[in-house]
Amino acid sequence: MPRMRKKKNMDRRLEACRPVFFDEPELNRGRWREVCGFDKCTQLMLELGCGKGKFVVGQAKRYPDRLFVAFEKEPTVILLAMENAIRNNCDNIFFVCADIASLSEYFETDETDIIFINFCDPWTRQNKPKRRLTHRSCLEVYKSILKNNGELFFKTDSEMLFDFSLEELDLSGFQVLELTRDLHHSAFNETNISTEFEEKYASENIPIKWLHASSQKD
Ligand SMILES: C[S@@+](CC[C@H](N)C(=O)[O-])C[C@H]1O[C@@H](n2cnc3c(N)ncnc32)[C@H](O)[C@@H]1O
Repeated sequence: MPRMRKKKNMDRRLEACRPVFFDEPELNRGRWREVCGFDKCTQLMLELGCGKGKFVVGQAKRYPDRLFVAFEKEPTVILLAMENAIRNNCDNIFFVCADIASLSEYFETDETDIIFINFCDPWTRQNKPKRRLTHRSCLEVYKSILKNNGELFFKTDSEMLFDFSLEELDLSGFQVLELTRDLHHSAFNETNISTEFEEKYASENIPIKWLHASSQKD
């Protein structure tokens, strides 16, 4: 009986988030701005693996004229992110609970302006590099859905993943415009919005690695 009550409570909370949630994101392909009620010139920003939503909510409040779509594969986690957005009256964030592997089914070529990836799983075992969200196979997809000169922002605590990502970006035709291996002690920190994982790593004095790259289409 307590399990049933828990399920009922989850369903009720999910239902309350329905206005900010798309469960068939493929239907929005090529028309996200229109479907979300934004002008066709609006900048479209994605966060991949948004966790509990602290970063995307901070961005959306800073840039109320931009449209944000946040992806997260864990239903219980995205629920917290959606509730966070609603609590903060952000009417410019929409959520998708799906694996990023299917991104090209959800966005048209050149449809997006900026992609944020924050503290994605590093998959430290050498035999799993394809699972990293900055592997060249993923970067090719990001490059295709980003407009030419679209931007990618990436943060991580992992030195190994940061070095790997720099190599993969180079191989995939992204140009790294700015980077730091200690974000919180750099000038870039002035405009930084921390994520939940970032706060945890910073409290353990782990330097945060950050980069800003631009997609260069042929
Ligand atoms: C380490 S957490 C970081 C969360 C948040 N970005 C932060 O910095 O606090 C990584 C998040 O990405 C999500 N994630 C990992 N791989 C994913 C994928 N392929 N598709 C969608 N979400 C993914 C995980 O469920 C998790 O919530």
